[in-house]
Amino acid sequence: MGWEEAGSTENMRRHQSLYPLSHDHHQALVQALNLDKAGAGDDQTGLQEAAAQFADFWRSDLQRHFAQEEQIVLPLLAMYKAADAAEIRDTLEQHSAIARLIGELNEKLARPETIAASLLINIAESLRRHIRYEESELFPAVETSVPEEELWLMNMRLSDR
Ligand SMILES: [Fe+2]
Repeated sequence: MGWEEAGSTENMRRHQSLYPLSHDHHQALVQALNLDKAGAGDDQTGLQEAAAQFADFWRSDLQRHFAQEEQIVLPLLAMYKAADAAEIRDTLEQHSAIARLIGELNEKLARPETIAASLLINIAESLRRHIRYEESELFPAVETSVPEEELWLMNMRLSDR
């Protein structure tokens, strides 16, 4: 198996072994859009619903996605590029910043507190920026540093959900 060009511009020249993660990114962008929509208004019911839906997405999908990147992808980059590669540090920093914002959201959901539209917009924007970073910096670094056979072993671990 080798390199294959994907049809969409977004996934242009993305190595197929990373498709499971790019697929997750697509799902996350849909969720971010949902946060934007609710955040554009100040209807508290809409904000609460969008917040709860996103909190579910975090628990069911996004948390595991972050964990897979941290436990499967970043160690490969550490091994084949450098243990102190900027992409590793940046990805970890962005993951914790986003997890912190979601922690804030979960705290508000756990108590009868109002949800600020700005928090939802902040989460959406951080997530979008982070995905853009991974697709344009982290994944290309993985594709160029990690040997082909290791990429496919990585893919098997990513697909084992
Ligand atoms: Fe990601």
